[in-house]
Amino acid sequence: MFEWVAVILAAGKGIRMKSRMPKVLHPICGREMICYPVERAAEVTSKTILVVGSHGEEIRSLLGDSVDFAVQKQPLGTAHALRCAQPMADGKGENILVLNGDVPLISATTLKEMMMRHLARRAVVTILTAMVDNPEGLGRVVRDERGKVMAVVEEAEADEELIKAREVNAGVYCFRGQWLWPRLKTVPRRGNGEHYLTDMVFLAREEGEEIEAVSSTQAGETIGINTRQQLARAEEILRDRIRQRAMSQGVTLLDPRSVYIDEGVSIGRDTVVYPNTYLLGRTAIGEECRIGPNSIIENSSVGKGCHIQASVLEGAAVAEGVTIGPFSHIRFQSHIGRGVHIGNFAEVKNSRLGAGTKVGHFSYVGDAELGSEVNIGAGTVTCNFDGVGKHRTVIDDGAFIGSDTMLIAPVHVGRGAITGAGSVVNHDVPPETLAVGVPARLRKKGKVKVPPAPSL
Ligand code: UD1
Ligand code: CA
Repeated sequence: MFEWVAVILAAGKGIRMKSRMPKVLHPICGREMICYPVERAAEVTSKTILVVGSHGEEIRSLLGDSVDFAVQKQPLGTAHALRCAQPMADGKGENILVLNGDVPLISATTLKEMMMRHLARRAVVTILTAMVDNPEGLGRVVRDERGKVMAVVEEAEADEELIKAREVNAGVYCFRGQWLWPRLKTVPRRGNGEHYLTDMVFLAREEGEEIEAVSSTQAGETIGINTRQQLARAEEILRDRIRQRAMSQGVTLLDPRSVYIDEGVSIGRDTVVYPNTYLLGRTAIGEECRIGPNSIIENSSVGKGCHIQASVLEGAAVAEGVTIGPFSHIRFQSHIGRGVHIGNFAEVKNSRLGAGTKVGHFSYVGDAELGSEVNIGAGTVTCNFDGVGKHRTVIDDGAFIGSDTMLIAPVHVGRGAITGAGSVVNHDVPPETLAVGVPARLRKKGKVKVPPAPSL
């Protein structure tokens, strides 16, 4: 038997978002909103039940079996949503931690404090409250003259005096299971057809039971997302936290507010991130890199000591000491070897570039396998698509591809071979052979000498 069970409520319609997508799937700093409370709950309890609506398939497929799912067929309010979890939770935990699924920035520290206080005070219900400047739309906390919580009153039911109150219900609760379950079904239906979970506070007061309230001290953690404006605000708060974390781990952000880092991105020490740069998705940047300005790096890894300037990387794996840009685009399934130089206006897709290879200017390298120390002249194109299928280009170590070479794939250029400027290579070139012309003819087998790579 688990001592605590977490129940996360995420079956509401989210009407105020005006979206086709379930509210809790809207991303915040690159991750779906629901991932945050699910992770926090896992930090403090060993069992989590997520209440979803009847159209919760997308949420189910996102979270898989990391949580148990309960279904609320109709959104009849937060108390009703919790009731839907009862068959799965009752008897599994002495205490129930309830989280609104749309309060994503809540910290595990605050949850732990609530849970400790709840047990220490032997409360039947513990609520989390926050003092806010703009309480619009939130449940107001009513206290008696001794400061004990008496009730949470929803805005629609609050009188003029209470509307002005700035202490609000954050939407996180601890309940003693034995007390909660039999009473939950007695919560009345309100005029709007909903059963409010907040009415449990009033009920506890009526019964003379202990109600505990914990006030949040972490700025921004209690923000609830009902609207796009609140979504933007949560994004801003979390982005700032991520930037602060990166800086305290030894990363320089030249102009922090112009750098956008998703949750789940890691950046090594002494890396400098220049303005207007986006580090997104699952991205890992090594130490001592210079990233940006004006770069977008998504779902990519970048090794130590790289310099990426005004370029876009998507699904790329970049080894150490690589320079890219300005104005290049490295796309999915690209493996860029150690010390590679990719200059301006190059696109690389689904290709492997060996160590020390250079693609200086205006080139397309797609579906290609380049060995080490290959030199790709300006304007080279791997013509990988013949209108029907994609074909591979293989260029072995030390080959020298002259400017404006068209490599008609499938084609293989051997080790140390040379292609002349402007050649159209539609047949394999053996090692150490010169190929020139349109279409390219082979010359000088075994006598060619690859010129040294140009200095950068
Ligand atoms: C709720 C609280 C309010 C508090 C605020 C904090 C109630 C009645 N009010 O208001 O006191 O200040 O949160 O953010 O609880 N949900 C369901 N099924 C439903 C209805 C809602 O699962 O039938 C889920 C929603 O998906 C959401 C959460 O419960 O994740 C809260 O519901 P929401 O409608 O957003 O409540 P608020 O109006 O924000
Ligand atoms: Ca809400």
